[in-house]
Amino acid sequence: MTKHLQKSSKSLPSKPLPSKKDHPAGKCLMSRRQMLFTSGVATATVMVAVSSSPEAAKVPAMVATYPRKLIAKLSQLKTDKPIGFEYPDEGAFAQSMVVKLGVAAGGGIGPKDDVVAFNYFCTHQGGDLDGTYKGDTKSLGACPLHLSTYDLTRHGILISGQAYQSLPQVLLELDGDDIYAVGVFGLIFGRYDNLQG
Ligand code: FES
Repeated sequence: MTKHLQKSSKSLPSKPLPSKKDHPAGKCLMSRRQMLFTSGVATATVMVAVSSSPEAAKVPAMVATYPRKLIAKLSQLKTDKPIGFEYPDEGAFAQSMVVKLGVAAGGGIGPKDDVVAFNYFCTHQGGDLDGTYKGDTKSLGACPLHLSTYDLTRHGILISGQAYQSLPQVLLELDGDDIYAVGVFGLIFGRYDNLQG
């Protein structure tokens, strides 16, 4: 059964996470639906007033959307072996990784909700986290610059170090064996807008 992003914010698929009781990542996790809305992935046409007058005509305006990009096959993933890709474009700071954690995670896809993806650049000052994945703690880090470390089971929240923002999480969709990147939750380091040209 194909699971893909709907073109209306009214019909996004809802996939509740396991209850707090049986989910190892605990209560800080948000549902997939919450992530999609918060990250602005949902596409929508909104009506915008062209002046402040109550009688002002309203015109339709499109909300920017992320590309849908094939990044890996579910069957090729091995637990704790990250695979690199670039998203949402091939510009600066787009390098990212997808990994099968082997344990359920916030925003995870697959039969065990354990496949997640994250941008590779530390939110503090852009340290490159490529090669720092730790399978025993399901984390990225320590950052080579100031040692920040991020928890990949909990949307990339900071475990320790100098950063004060979570690592941007790449949102995923599963279509058969194909894994697609469909959005980013959080601001990528070095960008004022994740979808900048
Ligand atoms: S750049 Fe990563 S902790 Fe400072």
